[in-house]
Amino acid sequence: MRLPSGKVGFSKAMSNKWIRVDKSAADGPQVFRVVDSVEDVVQKRLQLVQAGQAEKLAEKEKSELRKRKLLTEVTLKTYWVSKGSAFSTSVSKQEAELSAEMISSGSWRDRPFKPYNFSARGVLLDCGHLHPLLKVRSQFRQIFLEMGFTEMPTDNFIESSFWNFDALFQPQQHPARDQHDTFFLRDPAEALQLPMDYVQRVKRTHSQGGYGSQGYKYTWKLDEARKNLLRTHTTAASARALYRLAQKKPFTPAKYFSIDRVFRNETLDATHLAEFHQIEGVVADHGLTLGHLMGVLREFFTKLGITQLRFKPAYNPYTEPSMEVFSYHQGLKKWVEVGNSGVFRPEMLLPMGLPENVSVIAWGLSLER
Ligand code: PHE
Repeated sequence: MRLPSGKVGFSKAMSNKWIRVDKSAADGPQVFRVVDSVEDVVQKRLQLVQAGQAEKLAEKEKSELRKRKLLTEVTLKTYWVSKGSAFSTSVSKQEAELSAEMISSGSWRDRPFKPYNFSARGVLLDCGHLHPLLKVRSQFRQIFLEMGFTEMPTDNFIESSFWNFDALFQPQQHPARDQHDTFFLRDPAEALQLPMDYVQRVKRTHSQGGYGSQGYKYTWKLDEARKNLLRTHTTAASARALYRLAQKKPFTPAKYFSIDRVFRNETLDATHLAEFHQIEGVVADHGLTLGHLMGVLREFFTKLGITQLRFKPAYNPYTEPSMEVFSYHQGLKKWVEVGNSGVFRPEMLLPMGLPENVSVIAWGLSLER
């Protein structure tokens, strides 16, 4: 016998254990009733829905009915719209500005005012500019970043003589270390923290030599190295950066730059103040030569728009060879010095702990001079 909902009815009756099937008979399976009466819960639930009480159904019951397409569910959203506290049928504009007339007539009392918007952007001022030096400074920084250089920390104007001079193989009797050239500090007069084992290697290199050098052959004094000063060049920061680099094993090539203030105890004139900014670039890698230095200098100055360059042999206690950099000035119609450069001496690099086949090329220029 076939009924319209026979299949569903049969399986429901089975799962509710209302009927049982006996498959042992020879002429095919037979179905037997097991209970006397049944309760049609589906019908009862549908009657609930019909009576508008669908909310009485459990979620599971609803989904069962939904599956059998006996039920569809629709979500209705209802909004209640009512009058607000400032409801009015005539719209009046809020005042944005309090005027002298409103005050004298007293009309401000009855007028609605717009609240202040404190997060509104202010009108751009049509005055105020970046200082020309700051502009050039960001231009230089941009060039270094384009060339893959990383900025060194330079946040200490006060430096010990050790990092400013001794670490750079500048002897303690060097004239630059004189009161007339350098501002020394009275308080605190001495630097207390110095990396002592490295200090010992620096002392030995100055006084006895080493690393293939005969040194300066004088009595190197720790007291002299401890003297605090206003740094006279940013090469002090480069020395710190290279020492840090040397402590990282294995050695990895590095390109560093800095742009910051330095101080010199000099006679003031129109183009020389007691303080100015230095720009410094440092490259450390295996087997760098003077050729590499000339190459980076050309690239660096070309990016600045300076293409006519000349190099002149020079002297620095910490570089060998050293070169002054000149460029042709179209306006002045002459060659002007634009920088100083060189290959750092092994007497400076090896005590730091840098590998022997690593060389470091560097150059410095002034932002304003
Ligand atoms: N320290 C040098 C100066 O003050 C500039 C310089 C930097 C020279 C690096 C060589 C290498 O003029």
